[in-house]
Amino acid sequence: MKITFIGLGIMGSRMAQNLSKNNIDLTVYNRTPIKENIFERNDIIIATSLQSAVKDADIVFSMLSTPEAIKEVFFGKANTLSLMKENTIWVDCSTVNPSFSLTCSIEAKLNNIRFLDAPVAGSKPQAENAELVFFIGGAKKIIKEVEPYFNMMGKKVLQIGAIGKGTSFKMLVNIMLAQSMLIFSEAVLLGEKLGISNDFLLDLLPNLVVSAPFTKFKAETIKNNNYDVQFPLELMHKDLHLATLTAYEQNQPLFLANLTKELYAQAKKNGMGRLDFSAIHKYLEEAH
Ligand SMILES: NC(=O)c1ccc[n+]([C@@H]2O[C@H](COP(=O)([O-])OP(=O)(O)OC[C@H]3O[C@@H](n4cnc5c(N)ncnc54)[C@H](OP(=O)(O)O)[C@@H]3O)[C@@H](O)[C@H]2O)c1
Repeated sequence: MKITFIGLGIMGSRMAQNLSKNNIDLTVYNRTPIKENIFERNDIIIATSLQSAVKDADIVFSMLSTPEAIKEVFFGKANTLSLMKENTIWVDCSTVNPSFSLTCSIEAKLNNIRFLDAPVAGSKPQAENAELVFFIGGAKKIIKEVEPYFNMMGKKVLQIGAIGKGTSFKMLVNIMLAQSMLIFSEAVLLGEKLGISNDFLLDLLPNLVVSAPFTKFKAETIKNNNYDVQFPLELMHKDLHLATLTAYEQNQPLFLANLTKELYAQAKKNGMGRLDFSAIHKYLEEAH
């Protein structure tokens, strides 16, 4: 099998590196040429055009930032779907909205390409250590063909349902993540105003049953005032935007996620888009 990986950002570069640790035929591509060879093997093909990246591929993975980027690459200007062999499997691991995944599958079908939506749970460290969890939408038979490669990049493959169900489930995870980070930040800031030490709050609050477990790690980020990016705040804002768009499509009110979205929008506007999303704490601290 010839495997191609498109999008070598924070997540994609690490996922592709984990694929390359196995004895597979791998080609990678990134819009901005990568500055240094990140692969230990010297037979990984670093393609310089989308056409050369996909023309012989049996499976094409993509890990791009937004629906707009995916559209541009696969069925917009670059029209990469038309450059792929018939029956190739396109596995989109990006976080997008479910209705966009359905559009991707329709565009794929028009080009006789098979499609899976396969977003991931986990951030930079999990991508690095091949500990991602894949949430997958699509046909079981296609998932079976791709499973060995999912296992090279992750620790679990969850078949959620038909196309669009992987990105549906991922959306739920991220609205909870965004809101939990905000709730935790507000509690810490109020605690400080009430005269409780910052260290005490950051050590104790994440261990309570009411706290989301990931706040343990983000408490360290706050303590060290080091918001080096794992999951960019601007992409969390994108996910909240896509969640509220989806809620509109489904005629389902989404009160808190809408409010949360606007706070992340403000932080982004204040230059925090490429910090980690936990910088929403820094934004609240500085704004009020
Ligand atoms: N970071 C996380 O913790 C995390 C966790 C789970 C899921 N995700 C999701 O995974 C996806 C990737 O996230 P990331 O953190 O790896 O983001 P990132 O570091 O910002 O990387 C984005 C990638 O998309 C490419 N790209 C953007 N616009 C493009 C366009 N118009 N044409 C071609 N390529 C384009 C970028 O290429 P250039 O290098 O040329 O800009 C880069 O390879 C997002 O959907 C994100 O929501 C992220």
